[in-house]
Amino acid sequence: MANAVSLKVSLPKIPDIELVAIEGLDRLARHLGIAEGKIGEAKIIVTEAVINALEHAGDKSPGVRVEFTMTTKELVIFVRDYGDGFVPASVPDPDITAKLGDKNKRGWGLKLMKSLSDDFRIESDKGGTRITIKKLLV
Ligand SMILES: Nc1ncnc2c1ncn2[C@@H]1O[C@H](COP(=O)(O)OP(=O)(O)OP(=O)(O)O)[C@@H](O)[C@H]1O
Ligand SMILES: [Mg+2]
Repeated sequence: MANAVSLKVSLPKIPDIELVAIEGLDRLARHLGIAEGKIGEAKIIVTEAVINALEHAGDKSPGVRVEFTMTTKELVIFVRDYGDGFVPASVPDPDITAKLGDKNKRGWGLKLMKSLSDDFRIESDKGGTRITIKKLLV
């Protein structure tokens, strides 16, 4: 991408470390003068993606890789963990009525990320999970 700024970080599994990714994202976005609303949406996506990755990273290789590539027009977010992976197609779409009567109120992260993204791809296998998200910033 022309005139892109990028950031790559490897996050250790320690409390609140997703805030480091968020801070990095914020710095890039402010440098490029991105609109406040878009920055806020991008932060939600990154928070959900990084927390999922940290939760499922396991103990063998617990670090989570996060990469941002940003221009004034678009942001590409890449989040990678080395956990056991999952089958995305097998995750049911959460339903609010069903969730109200369910003990497990979780399960909204993927849906939220997709709703705030312009392109959302997951590749997952026994070696872990890679999520690539594109978000338009204009
Ligand atoms: N990186 C990942 N590695 C392995 N499994 C994952 C990963 N990300 C998501 N999943 C699986 O997909 C399910 C749905 O993820 P999602 O983020 O929508 O919900 P959640 O994390 O369970 O709850 P919430 O995000 O609402 O706190 C998870 O419960 C998990 O089984
Ligand atoms: Mg989640």
